[in-house]
Amino acid sequence: MSHAEETAGTRRDFLYYATAGAGAVATGAAVWPLVNQMNPSADVQALSSIFVDVSGVEVGTQLTVKWLGKPVLIRPRTADEIEAARAVALSDLIDTNSENSNKPGTDAADQNRSLDEAGEWLVMMGVCTHLGCVPLGDGAGEFGGWFCPCHGSHYDTAGRIRKGPAPRNLDVPVAAFENETTIKLG
Ligand code: FES
Repeated sequence: MSHAEETAGTRRDFLYYATAGAGAVATGAAVWPLVNQMNPSADVQALSSIFVDVSGVEVGTQLTVKWLGKPVLIRPRTADEIEAARAVALSDLIDTNSENSNKPGTDAADQNRSLDEAGEWLVMMGVCTHLGCVPLGDGAGEFGGWFCPCHGSHYDTAGRIRKGPAPRNLDVPVAAFENETTIKLG
């Protein structure tokens, strides 16, 4: 590829993101280019824990909070979403690692993705593992979970990549229940 072609490709990608961003503002959906926010500095990371009150978050809805400059998606899943996620065979997954900082090295079974044993609470970085856009939630995409419109990555109800260019499941950050209604991130 010539340099000119490379430049053109880069420019097209850039324009596409800009368009997606403008659309997000118009519709209220969250598509943020995160290019400048991907690498928080060490001093930011030192202040890394936050507490999130989830008492008002209803089942089947999603709370998005900003943490270390990135969106974190917190969703109490419906019984149907949990059932759908647990019915998937590992052999059907693109990324068979749980990508869960709380359970390093475990496989991507749904039980290894959720915060609680029952599988109700899913907490994930809202950062597409392709190039960092924010996936759309509320059952978006072909697998009923999240969909990244930047280049068409489909995630299932456990946030696992099922189709599209993203190479990995959405990351599960260090998180834990501090008490019944508070999740600590970091
Ligand atoms: S950033 Fe490319 S598909 Fe999400």
